[in-house]
Amino acid sequence: MKKKIIIANWKMSLSQAQALALTQALLESIKDRPLDNLELVVCPSFNVLSEVGRLLAKSNIALGAQDCCWEEAGAYTGEVSPQVLKEIGCQFVILGHSERRKYLGESDQLINSKVKSALKNGLAPILCVGETFEERQAGNKDFVIMQQLEKGLSGVNLGSADRLVIAYEPVWVIGSGQAVAAAEAEHTNQVVRQVLLDHFAPQKIEEQIHLIYGGSVNPENIKEFMLEPTIAGALVGGASLEAKTFSGLIAAAQKAV
Ligand code: PGA
Repeated sequence: MKKKIIIANWKMSLSQAQALALTQALLESIKDRPLDNLELVVCPSFNVLSEVGRLLAKSNIALGAQDCCWEEAGAYTGEVSPQVLKEIGCQFVILGHSERRKYLGESDQLINSKVKSALKNGLAPILCVGETFEERQAGNKDFVIMQQLEKGLSGVNLGSADRLVIAYEPVWVIGSGQAVAAAEAEHTNQVVRQVLLDHFAPQKIEEQIHLIYGGSVNPENIKEFMLEPTIAGALVGGASLEAKTFSGLIAAAQKAV
């Protein structure tokens, strides 16, 4: 059985010095605790990615980026190549986060080309999907998520060594301190699984794809999510920014799996 996965999304919340201090503190806090049944990933911002990668190099924590370009190289001012991310040790990349969809107007088509480019360069995409409050109030939650998945995964093939993470993140609970009920996240993940079945063989979904939940996950509520059958981990923002809180979350997750 694949291990559950906990992914820290540091967003743009930390200075260079804070990110390095947090990495050291995190390594310190888990050094005597084998992660056995859990996979751990941290996604710092670009400025500090290489340095955090160097600190993590011999640890059991993997490195992820928060975005990547849809192309590998060329005249794309301000963009970061998935090839270079791979070169500096990244294994994962968050794509289609709701903050990028909202503030940068990222479309499902653009996200789809990034997913393909990430896979081509040996990175595992962490594809984020989720509804806004308005979409939910209008009764369109499942439809919105199915559309984001259909478009985001259009033409995507998974080779035998490829991995994919789908993070269901209800946009309106991100950073709110109030997660949705675990049972509801489980229901949505089953909708996600249904869509995935149109794209991938059941065995591939089982072995190579993690369906996870994100949105105000913390040390107190992580257990509920980890106990649900299709929730294979969590994407954690706010609660990953402080080593003590995050290692408490990891410990609570480990107990549940
Ligand atoms: P949050 O963020 O844990 O602070 O709600 C999650 C995310 O945006 O990935």
